[in-house]
Amino acid sequence: MTTTPIAHRATAVAARATDLSKVYGQGETQVVALNHVSVDFRQAEFTAIMGPSGSGKSTLMHCVAGLDSFSSGSVRIGETELGSLKDKQLTQLRRDKIGFIFQAFNLLPTLTAMENITLPMDIAGRKPDREWLERVIDMVGLRDRLGHRPTQLSGGQQQRVAVARALASRPEIIFGDEPTGNLDSRSGAEVLGFLRNSVRELGQTVVMVTHDPVAASYADRVIFLADGAIVDEMHSPSADGVLDRMKAFDAKGRTS
Ligand SMILES: Nc1ncnc2c1ncn2[C@@H]1O[C@H](COP(=O)(O)OP(=O)(O)OP(=O)(O)O)[C@@H](O)[C@H]1O
Ligand SMILES: [Mg+2]
Repeated sequence: MTTTPIAHRATAVAARATDLSKVYGQGETQVVALNHVSVDFRQAEFTAIMGPSGSGKSTLMHCVAGLDSFSSGSVRIGETELGSLKDKQLTQLRRDKIGFIFQAFNLLPTLTAMENITLPMDIAGRKPDREWLERVIDMVGLRDRLGHRPTQLSGGQQQRVAVARALASRPEIIFGDEPTGNLDSRSGAEVLGFLRNSVRELGQTVVMVTHDPVAASYADRVIFLADGAIVDEMHSPSADGVLDRMKAFDAKGRTS
């Protein structure tokens, strides 16, 4: 069996939005949440999406992740065009190819940490890759908490369960909407460290919405949204660099 060389994989596209628009409502109440957005999320790359409240970050993420419909343009996950799929196929694609980490951890209270981690695969009737699962559990440091229920875990530990659950099935791409928004800075840093390691060590693709320049500095690149459009992009960002860029946008907003 041959494996794809890393250099080759690094240039492959995990998800792509082309000329993507999303309009809510009609007439007077019409809101253009996404305005002709084109963006690639490459394999084994960690991307942060930033921008003011209401700029379209969640909408972009939801449309690319197949959680929301769009008005025009196209989205593909791997080689699959989302627009060509029926509802059932879309549900299947989300289940098989996409991992999610939300601010509210969405863990089932009656299940143990381990049961929560393997739940999506259990529902799909898929057997977890044992070796992979062990690696993920070690990476997020949950080995001695696997039998605990969510209420017996700290917020940071619960979020680590959510991270492990997203990684467990080796999805094509993982989306997080402010995955560290509810955590203190130390737990947040841990979760961000795991996400970065999953990209570096496991070749995972991660896209994360965040308001926090420090969180964004864990990413390989940051894209900035304003009024539903991509207005800037930074590579290998530092927290200070991101903060400066955000201040520049604010200043521009005040003078225009
Ligand atoms: N269901 C909806 N109906 C009408 N307008 C909506 C709907 N959902 C979002 N919007 C509008 O679309 C725009 C983009 O919303 P979105 O949730 O993507 O912003 P965001 O960048 O994620 O903001 P935040 O940082 O506050 O989470 C906003 O102006 C919002 O009011
Ligand atoms: Mg949002």
